[in-house]
Amino acid sequence: MTEESAPGATYTQIWPTTEEFSAAELADLYRAPGVRSNMVTSIDGSLTIGGRAGGLSDPVDFEHLLLARESADVLLVGAGTARAEGYGPVTARDKALAGRRAAGQDDHPALALVSASLDLDPSSPMFADAPHRPLVLTHTPDGGADADWTRRREALADVAEIVLLPGPQAAAEHGSAGGAAIVAALRERGHTRILTEGGPALLGTLVTDGALEELLVSYSPTVAGGDGRRMVTGAPESPRGARLVLLLKADDLLIARYRMR
Ligand SMILES: NC(=O)c1ccc[n+]([C@@H]2O[C@H](COP(=O)([O-])OP(=O)(O)OC[C@H]3O[C@@H](n4cnc5c(N)ncnc54)[C@H](OP(=O)(O)O)[C@@H]3O)[C@@H](O)[C@H]2O)c1
Repeated sequence: MTEESAPGATYTQIWPTTEEFSAAELADLYRAPGVRSNMVTSIDGSLTIGGRAGGLSDPVDFEHLLLARESADVLLVGAGTARAEGYGPVTARDKALAGRRAAGQDDHPALALVSASLDLDPSSPMFADAPHRPLVLTHTPDGGADADWTRRREALADVAEIVLLPGPQAAAEHGSAGGAAIVAALRERGHTRILTEGGPALLGTLVTDGALEELLVSYSPTVAGGDGRRMVTGAPESPRGARLVLLLKADDLLIARYRMR
């Protein structure tokens, strides 16, 4: 993603009223407890250009991404996204600290990664420079842990808290899907404002069992073409409606806030 943000961005509210919205007011809205995702899409429904979201994100979108992050207790990210986007440490900027402290939040959001393979580099900055020890949510591979998986788990345990969740098979037997277990593990650690930046496979897990409560969608003023991914993959076709609760315009970017019904 682009590393440049547009600190002076103003958000014009289109729905439900046409008032101007300050960044601080928006941050307060995003501080409501819940499980929300924040994703950017092209007009023609692609999540990526050149395999990354960065081609779609501009300084206005990046500022909005930071604002949503800085409202969260924890940022939940799938390993595929962390690898593709080269995630660094998750930190809040100085200007966000007063709002976070007033809301009783830690200065910086925690980072929680979801991975089955544990193919994550323990020396990468998202671990090495993290203000909090990240969580890595995983499950024992079906068929049992092999030597490689065990070695990766031991290496990651030096830099992260490893949380073992029920695997897909165990989840099916116990009647709970992976998404519910992921959210429960975060709530058990005191995180009530859960923000996920995807990607599509992780959102598929969350959508499948109704764990995703709110979607922030940035519509980049771009027609991407190509065969980029959709926002939610791997979930069985089972349409659920969403209610539009806010529509903002910032430059040519449209930001919609939907609540799942
Ligand atoms: N436009 C946007 O806003 C946006 C946002 C995010 C991502 N993206 C793009 O989406 C692409 C990545 O897509 P993706 O579907 O691969 O992303 P993803 O959901 O972040 O990654 C999938 C990987 O995450 C882990 N994972 C996800 N859900 C899991 C679960 N329930 N249990 C265990 N592991 C789980 C697995 O990791 P392991 O392979 O380690 O087992 C899985 O292979 C990239 O091109 C990225 O740039 C775009």
